[in-house]
Amino acid sequence: MIKPLIAANWKMHKTIGEAAGFARQAKAAFASITDRDIVIAPPCTALAAVGEILKGSTVGLAAQNMHWAEKGAFTGEVSAAMLIDAGCDHVILGHSERRNLFGETDSLINKKLTAALTSHLKPIFCIGERLEEREGDQTFHILRQQLHKGLNNISSGDIRRCVIAYEPVWAIGTGKTATPEQAEQAHVFIREVIGDLYGAAIGNTMRILYGGSVTPDNVAGLMAQRNINGALVGGASLDIESFTKIIGF
Ligand code: PGA
Repeated sequence: MIKPLIAANWKMHKTIGEAAGFARQAKAAFASITDRDIVIAPPCTALAAVGEILKGSTVGLAAQNMHWAEKGAFTGEVSAAMLIDAGCDHVILGHSERRNLFGETDSLINKKLTAALTSHLKPIFCIGERLEEREGDQTFHILRQQLHKGLNNISSGDIRRCVIAYEPVWAIGTGKTATPEQAEQAHVFIREVIGDLYGAAIGNTMRILYGGSVTPDNVAGLMAQRNINGALVGGASLDIESFTKIIGF
């Protein structure tokens, strides 16, 4: 059985004070949870403060993005080493908002994945199709392409430290969740592609999260699916009560 991971993606929400308050509550509330992993991804400004609070706790810390270079003249960017310095163990990469609003391509995401893995950060690698791609029967084609290009030259040793998040773009922030069956079908496909690339042993043990309008009301149905190993939660992770319910799915 693959241990589930529930990750909170706060996007561009919460001041340092708000994030720190949540982190203190989370550290105490989730201290005894051992049957699932929990990760919080605050905005960049709050990473160090939250990292300090979460030190020694069971709750992991993720950044929402990073640059692939070690250092240099990249105004506005943050490196893997800086994220680790702030206390991060994970980094979300390839989120559809980064792809669609900030022009991130598969090959750029591949550079970021490679840099994160080299620095021993665990990437949460997001993939997913847009509505018109689903309606045009392109879902599997898009997922395969995002996986092949995103994971180009990533070794089988490194892929074991990756988590994949299937996030259909049409379900993100829209209140329109994929049905558990739609999500399961995509997860099975993703597992097969990973199996083709790295062998069945890795495909079968890959942690694959679902993301897109996950709430306390729909999480149980999603998590009951055999190939769904956790959730990447946006809107419903901003409130500690709602996030706690999701963790207790
Ligand atoms: P949502 O966001 O839960 O608000 O749909 C999920 C995500 O973008 O990771």
